[in-house]
Amino acid sequence: MKTVSAGMARTHYCGEIGDAPEGSRVTLYGWVQRRRDLGGLIFIDLRDRTGIAQVVCNPQDEPKAHAVARTLKQEYCISVTGTLSRRPEEMRNPAMATGEVEVLASGIEVFNEAETPPFVIDDSAEVTDTLRLRYRYLDLRRPSLQRNLFLRHQAASSTRRFLDEHGFVEVETPVLTKSTPEGARDYLVPSRIFPGKVFALPQSPQLFKQLLMVSGFDRYYQIVRCFRDEDLRADRQPEFTQIDIEMSFVAMEDVLSLTEEMIAVMFRDTIGVELARPFPRLTYDQAMETYGTDRPDMRFGMRLVDVTDIAATSEFRVFRQTAENGGVVKAIAVKAPHDLSRKDLDSLHQAVAEHGAKGVLWARLEEDGWKSTLAKFFSDAQWAGIMMRLEMAPGDVALFVADRREVVDASLSALRLHLAQRLGLVQKEAYAPLWVTGFPLFEYSEEEQRLVSVHHPFTAPLPEDEALLGAEPERVRAQAYDMVINGYEVGGGSIRIHKRDIQQKVFGVLGLSDEQAKTKFGFLLEALGYGAPPHGGIAFGFDRLVMLLSGASSIRDVIAFPKTQKAACLMTEAPSDADPAQLAQLGLKLAEEA
Ligand code: AMO
Repeated sequence: MKTVSAGMARTHYCGEIGDAPEGSRVTLYGWVQRRRDLGGLIFIDLRDRTGIAQVVCNPQDEPKAHAVARTLKQEYCISVTGTLSRRPEEMRNPAMATGEVEVLASGIEVFNEAETPPFVIDDSAEVTDTLRLRYRYLDLRRPSLQRNLFLRHQAASSTRRFLDEHGFVEVETPVLTKSTPEGARDYLVPSRIFPGKVFALPQSPQLFKQLLMVSGFDRYYQIVRCFRDEDLRADRQPEFTQIDIEMSFVAMEDVLSLTEEMIAVMFRDTIGVELARPFPRLTYDQAMETYGTDRPDMRFGMRLVDVTDIAATSEFRVFRQTAENGGVVKAIAVKAPHDLSRKDLDSLHQAVAEHGAKGVLWARLEEDGWKSTLAKFFSDAQWAGIMMRLEMAPGDVALFVADRREVVDASLSALRLHLAQRLGLVQKEAYAPLWVTGFPLFEYSEEEQRLVSVHHPFTAPLPEDEALLGAEPERVRAQAYDMVINGYEVGGGSIRIHKRDIQQKVFGVLGLSDEQAKTKFGFLLEALGYGAPPHGGIAFGFDRLVMLLSGASSIRDVIAFPKTQKAACLMTEAPSDADPAQLAQLGLKLAEEA
């Protein structure tokens, strides 16, 4: 980082005073981290965004500065002028970046006093999330959050640089717009000029980026805010940022190879990690079969293995009945050495309960045979089959779940993650990216009782499956792809439909009448009729990427002013009551509370 001086009195950032020559005069600006009074001397830890510098005030040498220092409290904002000095041998602190030096203060100016902060500005302080978010501007003084936001900036710079070099143009698209379906609820903004009408905030710039391809921009990107009213989790916020990309005259391979290079460059530029390329690929079916999820964490093994055929012929009634009813029995093997006690094994059902499984059955392979409630229900040949398929050795434990396929997959996938954490199999610093391809175009929604898009309605079917759109839409495969890193879906995209008739057919499958399609997406259908080029693209969840780069466990830690789990801002207290006058202007009336 460059030292700031032009036109300002500051000569150095606190974290960089080690660069100043011995005996030179320095001026620092910052916040008081700590003041210690020791035998007449006052020590101040002064903090700015680069780190901490130790300042010493000696009452004999500099009585005026010392007098000011005596009044300083935590988080006062001050300037310090003084002489750079190497610390006496016994005072050096190798744990501190500037631990070899200190500033002998000759002048201290208080820019502003500070109330006693509600928590100490320190990464080790135990503070509730509520308090942190309420005083986010203080929370953001903490070094770890500052580091995360600098990392975020670097990731954005790297992305812009890469895309600039590859001929992309950044174009801004509207925020006040019409609903863009990405599977969540919209945030709506009522129009004053058109009473009763609303804008929707974009769930993504999907349609606009496609229209930019129709306009001939060829390669578009935007680092853009998106809005989705959905249930929040550690990796979901109601407003979040995408790296949104669209390209004309491309096939899936072009999008995958260019964007995986972009991600690899981002990892190199920001944290110096080299991701091996090309990224491995799994089809959707393979991912579901082997990991029970379409976003597998590939940093560890414990694959799901289908043992339905063996279980179906066992004497265990639950397994037999499950198989007869079209369900499946799958298992994972936990390799020795592990410290899973009988009690641990018996308590694993908790990890699967929320996914609907009725329980987990276990079998431990020992030198002298199987220890399990299932032992007597399987023949020796059946146990041998289980052992081979799960590649087990003495000491290993097999865990079985039997149910409908979806329940088994979701349960064992959750169990796999739970055990990986519990057994310490997850390497924190490792990154395991992959592509998942070969998604179906539609899936059946129990809730809506109809087919819905797996990605979004603008995703192109595989050309050879187009003929199935009429009669067997569930069998149509999509030209869609997701990028997954460490179990997080970090990006998703597709080749798009660029022919009007196909787009109309897809709307039809989704249950939209021609009239509804025209009302909702008439502008798109029209545009496709004016020489729309073949095109495709992808959007990355920028917050999720920065979370992975920084090692944070929630995207909240990489967003300056995030919302709570309930989509509220504790600092500004948004959302807040609507002003009756504003409601009247908008022609809105609140429903009486029930
Ligand atoms: P999709 O809906 O998959 O695709 O979104 C792309 C990526 O955005 C991230 N993401 C989120 N991050 C934080 N909070 C959220 N609420 C949230 N929702 C999504 C995920 C996801 O992979 N228009 C398409 C892209 C395309 O087809 O080009 C789209 O938005 O990392």
